[in-house]
This record gives sequence, C-alpha cells and structure tokens, in this order.
Amino acid sequence: MPDTRAAAIVLAAGKGTRMKSSHPKVMHRIAGRTLIGHVLDNLAPLDLARVVAVVAPGMDDVTQEVAPHGVAFQTEQRGTGHAVGCARSALADFTGDILVVYGDTPFVSTATLRRMFERRHASDDPAIVVLGMRPVDPSGYGRLVLGADGMLDRIVEHKDATDAERAIGLANSGVMVIDGSVVWSLIDRLDNKNAKGEFYLTDIVALARRDGRRCAVVEAPAEELLGVNSRSELAAAEALFQTRRRMAVMENGATLIDPASVFFAADTRVGRDVVIGPNVQFGPGVEIADNVEIRAFCHIEGARIESGAIVGPFARIRPRTTIGAGAHVGNFIELKATEFGAGAKANHVSYLGDSTIGAKANIGAGTIVCNYDGVNKSRTTIGAGSFIGSDSVIVSPVTVGDGAYVAAGSVITRDVPPDALAVARGQQVDKPGWASRFRARSKKKD
Ligand code: UD1
Ligand code: MG
Repeated sequence: MPDTRAAAIVLAAGKGTRMKSSHPKVMHRIAGRTLIGHVLDNLAPLDLARVVAVVAPGMDDVTQEVAPHGVAFQTEQRGTGHAVGCARSALADFTGDILVVYGDTPFVSTATLRRMFERRHASDDPAIVVLGMRPVDPSGYGRLVLGADGMLDRIVEHKDATDAERAIGLANSGVMVIDGSVVWSLIDRLDNKNAKGEFYLTDIVALARRDGRRCAVVEAPAEELLGVNSRSELAAAEALFQTRRRMAVMENGATLIDPASVFFAADTRVGRDVVIGPNVQFGPGVEIADNVEIRAFCHIEGARIESGAIVGPFARIRPRTTIGAGAHVGNFIELKATEFGAGAKANHVSYLGDSTIGAKANIGAGTIVCNYDGVNKSRTTIGAGSFIGSDSVIVSPVTVGDGAYVAAGSVITRDVPPDALAVARGQQVDKPGWASRFRARSKKKD
C-alpha cells in the first residue's frame, strides 16, 4: 500500500533547450497529453497528500496544466537538489515522505512507484529509495554505487565519475522516495562543489549514509524511465506509447487490422469486439462502445460512439459528437457537436454541425447543415425517421419534424412540420424540341 501521507515534487523548471521550442519542454505532448500530464496521471492512483510542480517563473501554461495541484518557483536553475529545496515552503506544514519525479519522464508507472514506497517502509527503514535502471548505454547518467551489502552508498554523476565508476551499468533514473523527517536537513547540507557547479539532489544519498541511515535501490526497465530531451526522443516516446496502447486495446478484445497505423490518444477508450481499420487517428476524449466498426482513414476526437455503429471509411468526427447505436456514418462525413441518433444514416459526403439528428433519420448524399452565418453558430434539429434528400442545404436554426421529407436539392430556411414534404428549389421546366433547335441555330458557319 502506498503511504497516503506522502507528497510528490515534480521537477519541471528545466528549459528543455534541446527541444528548440518556445514552449516549456513538459508541455509537449505524447498521445495528445502533455508530458507532465502523463506524470500526474501516473501519480493520481497513489492518492498522495499533495503534489507540487517546480517550475521556472513565466511558465504559466505549466501552472495551468498542473492545477489544481500547486507550483513552486525556481528562479535560477541551480541543480536538482536546489529545485527540490524550492518546493520546501509549499510543503512547510508537511511531514510525510517525499517522492521526487521529473516532469519530462512520462512513463514511470504507478506500480513502480508503489514498489518504491513499499521498499521505503520495509523493516530496515531506508531513508532514501532510488529508482535505478540499466540502460544499454548508461553514459551521461548518474551511477549508483552499491556497498558490499548491496545497499546504495552514493550516486556519482557521470561528469564527476572515475573510469571505474563509469563502468557501473546501474544508473540513476532521478526518481526518489525520501524520508520526510530528514529530507530538508539533507537538502540544507548540499553543496555545489562538483563538475557542473550545481546542487545535486543525488548527493543526499551520501549525506544520509553519513548520518547512519541506509539507502536502497528499486530497479525498473530503462524503457519505463525514458526521458524526453529532444524532438526525436519525443517521437520515440510517442512510438513506445502507441505500441503499448495498441497491445492493450487488442488484449482488451478489439481487432486492429493494421495496428501500426492506428494512433490513440492517452484517454481513448475502446470496447470489446470493436474493429478498427488501417490509418485511423484518435484525438482526445473518445469513447467507443462494444461492437463498433471504425473503417479505414478516420479522424475521431471528442466523441462517444455507441454499440454497433459503423463509421467511415474517411469520416471526420469532431468534438462534442455522439453517434447512436447502430448508426452509419460513411465516407467523407464530418460531424461536429452533433448528436447523431441511433440507427440514423449519413453515408456520403456531408457536413452536419451543431445539430441533432433523430433516430433512424436518413441524411442524403451531399447534405450540408449551415450552422454558421459568419457571426454566430446555431443549432438544427432533424427529426426521427425523417428523410433528407441528396444535396440539401439546411440553414440553421431550423427544425425538420419527425418523419418529414426534404426533397433533393432543397435549401431549407424554415421549420418543416412533422410528416410533411418540403420542396425548396427551382421548378423544372421542360421545353420540347429545344435542343435540336438550339443545335441548328448555333451550327458553325464556315
Ligand atoms: C539527473 C541526475 C542523474 C540522472 C539523470 C536521469 C542529478 C544531479 N542528476 O541528471 O543522476 O541519471 O537526471 O535523467 O540529479 N531541474 C530543475 N531545476 C534545476 C535542474 C533540473 O527543475 O535546477 C529538472 C529538469 O527540468 C529535469 C530534471 O530536473 O526535469 C532533471 O534535470 P537534468 O538537468 O536533466 O538532470 P541530469 O543532468 O540529466
Ligand atoms: Mg536529464
């Protein structure tokens, strides 16, 4: 069980220079969610007493992103130990354990963090539990120097390490759980006499050992501890996330015909016996019930799709849309903020925005709901069981009654009563023999 009295400090003041971005590094996204958002998601089940993100002044978007959690400011980047110290006043009345994580290391799992808390509360009472990893190439990372008893003696940064220390494969991930009763006295004693001239958080291990306390290591796969420092590392993290999520979706009972071409958002929910075709992308906020078929080349965000619906190929489903049970949304259909009723059909080339489409309505090819007059958006309701003829334009706000017909090619600007036929187009005029007269008249004279 995690210690519910623990607090977490998320270090996020780093500029992330290598991202070459005007946004803070932790605001870059994987599967539609910010790096720091992933970190907070993984912390959430731990039921921590408090979470504080350490940010640099001016990182207002990070402050917003972590709300309702609080932030502490680090005005000058003087190292990870100094950054932790900046959170002290935000945790002034707090005595529980302190978990330190990085805002740019998005995949540290809740299960791993729980293992760290368990180790911290083992009978030998280690003052610090450090999360270690064995990367293929550990150069650049701090190395974990173990004593003869297998416990952690100290952490040496790569730049300060001897050749023998650099040969150690066990590296520091940066994640730590620290006994809350000693954390500030350890931080107070840090100095910056090292290769980088920074206050290293890692030095608290040697300090705790000097105080006669034990320190322990918990290991996790290096993959889980992947940090994002550049655009290519961001892409690698995205790829890793997608691979795992595709596996999870399939394990949960959905079929992905070509898994590598389907992209999920961090919060996509997919039911059982869902079939997803190739080249489908999900934005945030999508929930797909059981037995839904998403055909190739769809882009779907902010939508709930009910059981048995068929969507695509080539459909674009935009936020605040629901697609009812058994509905069909076919090729080149765009739905926005639309409640598309159960069993309704729109199979060919339509835009339906800010509309309510009743159950079993049939929306003909090329139907457009004009929801925007250049200033305001308005809503349209198309009744249950109605039939909208092809190439109709429905100018919002308008209500087409239940069971009504709209003739093909109509421009509907007034409400249509239930069960009526509305025809709103130019009348057809036939002129017998006109064509041959025309041809004779216009014959080329040479
Ligand atoms: C740190 C560890 C190193 C470990 C590595 C894992 C120290 C001294 N070293 O090194 O042992 O192997 O992470 O990736 O801790 N940050 C601040 N303020 C600062 C400095 C850093 O908020 O003044 C934040 C950064 O935004 C980042 C995290 O702390 O999220 C780590 O900082 P970084 O400079 O990347 O540390 P490393 O040198 O990589
Ligand atoms: Mg780093």
